[in-house]
Amino acid sequence: MKFGIMTRNPEAWSSTQVRESLIKRGIQYECFTFPRLVARLAYKPYFKVGNTSILEDLDALIIRPIGRGSLEELVFRMDMLYKMERKGFYMVNPPTAIEHCVDKYDILALLEDVGVPVPRTLATESVNEALKYFEELGGDVVVKPIFGSRGQGATRINDVDVADTIFKAITFHHGVIYMQEFVEHGFSDIRAFVLGDQVIASMRRVATGWKTNYSRGARPAPEEISEENKELAVKASKAVGCKVAGVDILEGPNGPCIVDVNSQPGWKGLQQVAKVDIADKIVEYVLNDLKK
Ligand SMILES: Nc1ncnc2c1ncn2[C@@H]1O[C@H](COP(=O)(O)OP(=O)(O)O)[C@@H](O)[C@H]1O
Ligand SMILES: [Mg+2]
Repeated sequence: MKFGIMTRNPEAWSSTQVRESLIKRGIQYECFTFPRLVARLAYKPYFKVGNTSILEDLDALIIRPIGRGSLEELVFRMDMLYKMERKGFYMVNPPTAIEHCVDKYDILALLEDVGVPVPRTLATESVNEALKYFEELGGDVVVKPIFGSRGQGATRINDVDVADTIFKAITFHHGVIYMQEFVEHGFSDIRAFVLGDQVIASMRRVATGWKTNYSRGARPAPEEISEENKELAVKASKAVGCKVAGVDILEGPNGPCIVDVNSQPGWKGLQQVAKVDIADKIVEYVLNDLKK
């Protein structure tokens, strides 16, 4: 048995936890970054990293952050994952899940399809159209980069002149305007960590502002997640095709809603309040999945 861990940074905390779990269990592994991958066509092995042939030597691949890159780099990375999947290779998460989760419009569109509550959201390439509907969303909106993460670039806007300037800046750089009604959540939200059809850990992320990302300094607090929220989180994870997911649940005046599903969630903050060893649970999940 040999695992692969594909990660942007092999020394990152969550990847290190996975490595330690594998060592404890006596499982061999190879840890590498995307740029080291070599893809071949019309001769084998199809994928190599160093002296390792991915499809022949590895039994499973755990994909940690796919990393930043140009459109060309990211599309190439996804194309390689799809090829590996077509060859019957096991990956967590599967490429479709990763692809859905890069795109905030796509995530929420899929969640809405299956009846998971999401905030009223509007996306368009047109500044004029976006401005027309600014008041409709309460004149208090969060504008987010459609491909963003860690709260970067997300802005709360409650002034139509500021909205006009921001929307023009977004479209000038050929971005898509993605705006969402502001959900009054009282500076905290729930992060549910889903593995298969279970929430294995959860926390309340307590912030000092409206962005509750752990990477922005929110404090992890223990949270007994309700059955309702558990079900929503699992349904959301499944809707985007994730086997492992970090689901962000906002509790607003109209009840819970989901704003984000992360297909490559870290768990450094969550582990501080979790009752289980999250990395080891992931490894155990993969081992069970491989037996199926
Ligand atoms: N519509 C919203 N209303 C209020 N707060 C929001 C809203 N959308 C996002 N946030 C806050 O901003 C954080 C980051 O937004 P999110 O959609 O999760 O994007 P990402 O984490 O990928 O940057 C959320 O965890 C939440 O605290
Ligand atoms: Mg988020």
